Amino acid sequence: CPVEVSKRAEEEADTPDLEGQSDDSSNEGDASGDTEMDFLRGLFSRTLGLSSGEKVLDELTLDGVARYILSGKCKNIICMVGAGISTSAGIPDFRSPGTGLYANLQKFNLPYPEAIFQIDYFKKHPEPFFALARELYPGQFKPTVCHYFMRMLKDKGLLTRCYSQNIDTLERVAGLEGEDLIEAHGTFHTSHCVSFLCRKEYSMDWMKINYSHLNLPARFFTTMKMDFPRCDLLIIMGTSLQVQPFASLVNRVSNSCPRLLINMEKTGQSEFGMGLFGFGGGMDFDSDKAYRDVAHLSSCDDGCMALAELLGWKAELEEMVKREHALIDSKDAKKKDKEATPSSRSAGAEAGNSDKTE
Ligand code: OAD
Repeated sequence: CPVEVSKRAEEEADTPDLEGQSDDSSNEGDASGDTEMDFLRGLFSRTLGLSSGEKVLDELTLDGVARYILSGKCKNIICMVGAGISTSAGIPDFRSPGTGLYANLQKFNLPYPEAIFQIDYFKKHPEPFFALARELYPGQFKPTVCHYFMRMLKDKGLLTRCYSQNIDTLERVAGLEGEDLIEAHGTFHTSHCVSFLCRKEYSMDWMKINYSHLNLPARFFTTMKMDFPRCDLLIIMGTSLQVQPFASLVNRVSNSCPRLLINMEKTGQSEFGMGLFGFGGGMDFDSDKAYRDVAHLSSCDDGCMALAELLGWKAELEEMVKREHALIDSKDAKKKDKEATPSSRSAGAEAGNSDKTE
């Protein structure tokens, strides 16, 4: 189950919800065992001053990352993303002060904000989740520059996989396919009944969410073990890296693998709390031992566009965004026309009838 390393979690030492755990749980157990080992390995090597991996980037900046990508040595890129990549599409993130979802849930009268996504609460009070889901339901939003940047990485054969915490399906709308994606916290794309005996799968047309995000999908653990050891560059975007085990993925790449964070604020740095939970070391952007982590503080869209420019892909990315948005607009317009036609016909018919009766 995703565990939030927040003050509340640390203070109350919450036991994660284990309900309905399937085969995934053994994988998950392995994974936390592995991350424990990673943590201890990292802790010993840092404490003993043994470090580190090879310094791959010639400079810990976006330019350094771009030169590395252009060198041809960087063939396997993993993106780890969160709600911050979709805020420019109009979808709020969770924790940004003032605008984040968790600051705006008063109307639902929840015992605490995260309850809206917890299965036990949902079973007793499904209304708040469905009310929120209605507001956030896919189809009303367009992918952002950042989503299309990942699509470009795919088209250029550089994207190993995108690990997303988002349920808005915008990665898919931007052209990433099932194989390219791990939707770690579920997705609106597929859904299933939460009853243990039923588990029936529903399509996206069904107004439900895939609650497998409470037990991470088995694929998360199998692909993670395959993808991260061979990763040449990890790009982390739009996430506070506060929810485990997702956040600990940053520790799963080799110790030479550069990690680029594109975010409004620095996240994922080493924290005592993370260590307590056995989730590993975190990133180091600023110490004198920093050798591979780059923090580019900007919006995800600006950061991706800046990187695209350094790579010589800017015009191509702008063109892709324009073309894909126009396509979405024209599909929407056709759909609206279709929906409007029968009612305008019946309105016409009614008008005709009323003429006759008059
Ligand atoms: P958060 O809301 O915790 O973090 C979003 C991060 O993105 C913050 O660091 C913001 O500063 C940053 N940000 C916001 N807008 C941005 C922008 N336009 N450009 C760059 N950065 C931006 O969201 P997540 O990390 O995705 O779990 O949250 C993780 C999980 O917590 C969610 O998947 C959800 C929640 O509880 C479940 O539902 C299980």
